[in-house]
Amino acid sequence: MYLADTSRYDNMVYNRLGNSGLKLPAVSMGLWHNFGYLNSQEDMIKILCHCFDQGITHFDLANNYGPEPGAAETNFGLIMKHYLRPYRDELIISTKAGFTMWDGPYGDFGSRKYLLASLDQSLKRMGLEYVDIFYSHRMDEETDLEETMGALASAVQQGKALYVGLSNYDGPTLQRATEILRETHTPFVINQNRYSIYDRTIERNGLKDKAQELKKGIISFSPLAQGLLSDRYLNGIDADSRVKHDGRFLTEEDVKKYHASIVKLNQIAKERGQSLAQMALAWVLRDGAVASVLVGVSKVSQIDDNLKALANTSFTAEELQAIDEACAGLI
Ligand SMILES: NC(=O)c1ccc[n+]([C@@H]2O[C@H](COP(=O)([O-])OP(=O)(O)OC[C@H]3O[C@@H](n4cnc5c(N)ncnc54)[C@H](OP(=O)(O)O)[C@@H]3O)[C@@H](O)[C@H]2O)c1
Repeated sequence: MYLADTSRYDNMVYNRLGNSGLKLPAVSMGLWHNFGYLNSQEDMIKILCHCFDQGITHFDLANNYGPEPGAAETNFGLIMKHYLRPYRDELIISTKAGFTMWDGPYGDFGSRKYLLASLDQSLKRMGLEYVDIFYSHRMDEETDLEETMGALASAVQQGKALYVGLSNYDGPTLQRATEILRETHTPFVINQNRYSIYDRTIERNGLKDKAQELKKGIISFSPLAQGLLSDRYLNGIDADSRVKHDGRFLTEEDVKKYHASIVKLNQIAKERGQSLAQMALAWVLRDGAVASVLVGVSKVSQIDDNLKALANTSFTAEELQAIDEACAGLI
């Protein structure tokens, strides 16, 4: 039987999402990779239980995480059932729909038909009565925003989600979505977007400023640029790295392209007394605009390394400039 560490809340920082009642741990855990059918169940259990023991109360999923799509939710459901069920009220579990999930015209993008059917499937796979946060996973230019937001509102009205979120939206669409969701009193609290030293899109598309102005939370995904912003690829490409074991979205070409920059950033991190991963996470959290960094890990030791980022999230102007210079031509 798993008994959670009684000191699990002693060291974690919890940040409020905008002006909502919901707080997230400054470091959250995502199940996009390493929770598919081919991964070891033993490793998954170790990772999730260790996260919770360290105060990581937020686990992020999506309908399509695998491979196969749905596998991460199924595996997570088993771990919930056998290990984490007694702690359900201490957990924030999220899922999403918006990317391709099943064949035909009803398993993709932002229709009411897709989102609500998918949420039912997700709840079944995870063995849950409700999720804490249900996201529209991406913007859909062909579907009326009122329809997609209406589906999120219905998920809450049906008791299948406590809060809703938007993922991969931009500033202007966030503004319109907020107005629609306000009219239906839907508890919209969070934006999930990619944000890292190497990806500054939300600074350019208005999302970061608009979320702060509207008092909505931001959680940033891939804050380590899938491992590039760590010591993973400093000295070659290990056989157990993401590039080698699941290189769908991170390739050897990416490593070559970023390598010189990674070496420079690693030196700056060393001078700050941090690992590169710690500095990369601290950079995302530096100005308080982002409530939580949503990391992935393949090993328990990576969780511990990442959590140490919270010890120093302040940067001097000189450090920030040196970081930007180390990314020249890449951002
Ligand atoms: N909403 C969306 O559209 C969207 C898109 C992508 C992701 N997400 C969410 O964001 C979560 C995180 O994304 P991500 O996995 O790309 O995040 P990430 O934290 O940028 O990358 C995670 C990978 O970095 C490596 N790593 C982590 N900590 C490390 C450390 N301390 N030292 C060395 N290497 C380390 C591991 O790679 P190895 O496997 O090589 O060890 C790990 O699998 C996902 O699980 C998902 O929940 C959402």
